[in-house]
Amino acid sequence: PFTLANLPEASAARLAVIGQPVAHSLSPQMHQPALDEAGIDARYIALEVGPGQVKEAFIRMRELGFIGCNVTVPHKFDALEACDEIDDTARDLGAVNTVRFDDDATRGTNTDGYGFEHAVKESLGLKLPGLSVMIVGAGGGAGGAIAAHCARAGVARLILVNRTESKIEVLGRTLRERHPRLDLATLGTQDTVLPALAAACTLIVNTTSLGLKESDPSPLPAGYLHSNHHVFDTIYKPTALIRAAEAAGAHHANGHLMLLHQGIAAFRFWFPGSDPDAAMRRGLGL
Ligand code: ATR
Repeated sequence: PFTLANLPEASAARLAVIGQPVAHSLSPQMHQPALDEAGIDARYIALEVGPGQVKEAFIRMRELGFIGCNVTVPHKFDALEACDEIDDTARDLGAVNTVRFDDDATRGTNTDGYGFEHAVKESLGLKLPGLSVMIVGAGGGAGGAIAAHCARAGVARLILVNRTESKIEVLGRTLRERHPRLDLATLGTQDTVLPALAAACTLIVNTTSLGLKESDPSPLPAGYLHSNHHVFDTIYKPTALIRAAEAAGAHHANGHLMLLHQGIAAFRFWFPGSDPDAAMRRGLGL
C-alpha cells in the first residue's frame, strides 16, 4: 500500500481506501474495474494511514485532487470527526466509511448499514423490517453500526451480545432513546438467558473479530443454533460459526456481499446515477 509519505508518487490516484492494516483490503480490486468500465480516468489505491493521521490524510488527498475515499478499521470514528459535514446515516451509525472531497466541503456518509441490509436480503432472502436479530460482538465498531442500522430499518427485536457487557451499555441506552418501541436486550456472552433469546430470533450476526484466525472458536457454542436460524458472518472466510451453522442445518452467509453492496453505495455517493454492480462482482469473483 501507499503511505502519506509516498502518496504523490501514486500517479492518477483519485480514490483510496484508508486504514491500518490496509494491504489486504479487497476494495481496490472491486472499485478499479467499476471505474474502468464507467470510463472514469482514476486509479483506486490502498493507503496506509496511522492512528491520529486521518485529518492529515484528508488534507493531502484534497491537495492531490482526490475525489474521495473509503475508510476502514480503525479510522471510521476519526473520519466522522474529520469531515466538515456528515449525513443522518453517518450520525446515526456513529461512523463514516465513505468520504467525498467536494469543492466547498468534505462530506461523509456510511454505507455499511445499506451493505449489510442488501447482503442479508440477497444471501439469506431476509428483509429487516419486523425481523428478530441477534448481534454478537455489538461492542465493536462494525457491530455498533449494524445494530444502529437494524434499529433504523425497523427490526422488531434486537438482541445485542458482547463478551464485555459494559461495552454495549451506552449503545443500548442510545438505541432505546431513539427507538422507544424497539424490543431491545443487551447481555454478555455468559448470560444464562442467552440460549433462550438465541432460540427466539431469526437472524444471528457475527461482528466479532473471531474467525479472522483459522484457530478461532465460534463466538456462540454450536448448541445455540437450529435449522431455522439464518447466520450472517461479517468475516469473509469460512469461520467456526459458519461451520457450526452448517452442522445445525441453518442458512448461512459470509461477508462478501456486504463488501459488495457497501461498495456499490459508496461508488454512487461519488458518482450519482452510476451502476457499478456487474463490474464490482467481476472484480470480487462473485
Ligand atoms: P472494532 O470492530 O471497533 O475494531 P474490536 O476491538 O476489533 O472492535 O472488537 C470487535 C468485537 O469483537 C468486540 O465486540 C469484541 O468484544 P469485546 O468488546 O468484549 O472486546 C469482540 N471480540 C474480539 N475478540 C473476541 C473474543 N476472543 N471473544 C469474544 N469476542 C471477541
